[in-house]
Amino acid sequence: MIEAKIFMGSKTVSKGEKGERKSPYSGEVVSVFPLCGAEDAEAALKVAESAFERSRRAPLSQRIAWLRDVAKRMREQKELFAKTITDEIGKPVMFSRIEVDRCIETIDLTADALVHLRGETIPTDATPSGKRSTAFWRRVPAGVVVAITPFNFPLNLAAHKLAPALGAGCSVVLKPTPEAPATAYLFAKLFIESEYAVEDALSVVYGDAEVGSALVTSPIPRVVSFTGSVPVGNIITKSAGIKKVSLELGGNAATFVEKSADIAHAAARCAFGAFVNSGQVCISLQRIYVDAAVYDDFAEALAEETKKLKVGSPYDDDTFMGPLINDESKERAMRWVESAAKEGARVVAGGELVDGIFAPTVMADVTDDMAIVCEEVFAPIVSLVKVESFDEAARKMNDSPYGLQFSIFTNDLRMTQRALDAFECGGIVVNDVPTVRFDIQPYGGMKLSGVGREGPQFALEEFTEIQSVVIF
Ligand code: SIN
Repeated sequence: MIEAKIFMGSKTVSKGEKGERKSPYSGEVVSVFPLCGAEDAEAALKVAESAFERSRRAPLSQRIAWLRDVAKRMREQKELFAKTITDEIGKPVMFSRIEVDRCIETIDLTADALVHLRGETIPTDATPSGKRSTAFWRRVPAGVVVAITPFNFPLNLAAHKLAPALGAGCSVVLKPTPEAPATAYLFAKLFIESEYAVEDALSVVYGDAEVGSALVTSPIPRVVSFTGSVPVGNIITKSAGIKKVSLELGGNAATFVEKSADIAHAAARCAFGAFVNSGQVCISLQRIYVDAAVYDDFAEALAEETKKLKVGSPYDDDTFMGPLINDESKERAMRWVESAAKEGARVVAGGELVDGIFAPTVMADVTDDMAIVCEEVFAPIVSLVKVESFDEAARKMNDSPYGLQFSIFTNDLRMTQRALDAFECGGIVVNDVPTVRFDIQPYGGMKLSGVGREGPQFALEEFTEIQSVVIF
């Protein structure tokens, strides 16, 4: 069992009152963490405020060496990180290992991107009213950053905030998800104990809405970077005041299986995209629009692929899907299925508990008005909707308050072009599921799915300000 500690900069601080994190699989206590309050958030912000005077001046070579060192030391402790993720959130260990690898890559990619963070010269005499001068713009660190991270990728989504924020020269207060405090603690420890660390540039506090609110509403931070739900994103937007807010929120990702598609490939990939991480991914495949000409064949192939997936202990090397994060999510998933079935949808795979785990579930004959396609389910449930044409599929895919990622399966090049023209979302994937994210890419959504982009090169822009310089 790991005891997570508060970091007030490089100092660890203990508190009498502790929270317990129980494994969603076994129910055993796997970590304990200090229960912080608003006063801890305020203290951490003060530490970050004075550390910013150091971090903004730290040479780029030091910041790059810092990130490289964290990546190197994580490589030496891969199994510890993977096991801690599995303990705390029940992610199957093969995917926890992938998450650790991705985290290392995210940090290394950020170190690479830092040397490309440049400005450009400006011809101030381009208009008659202008005057010749030496003028340019450059990027400077934005200030104190508040990073609030979710449970579904507790390590890599923290890396997508900490690495670019600290790399850019900001100081950071991290509030990790209460579901994975030890994962965040071990990660922060790598930064803080590095020989290249900027002293006190990173603090970590734990807690829920009270702590989050104290961090977000304070005038100290210049940037709030949040990944989580739309309702919380809304609260942050309304309460943050004048500061940069970047939001990676939810989605109800969709794909269109067009009639020229390779059906076997599409079915295998859709089973992956809908059920990986128990559907608890913002780009989890939730809606599949299928051309009527191939609907029955596709539904059968998807049900077969779904039944092949190994569901069970997240500690077994070959388990594909483990438990949902908590009982409330499991009960909500059961309710989604029951209400869609009452309205006429058919369960063609799953829809039940297997050894206490909500099974991967395929619902067929779903109609547009059912909540199971309109809202974000964040559970291993995928819905099939029959359509007669590309236009119908695109219209239905776009008819959503979210716009994170969509995809299309097709072997007709013209359909690819039509998808690029029609889909209203932050990312489009052709011939694979929308559940594809390479950490180097820009990642983020349109509409309610968020504001801003992650991905090292793009996040560096979120954590810096443009400063204009004119020298006469
Ligand atoms: C997310 O759920 O938004 C993160 C997806 C990923 O990083 O693969």
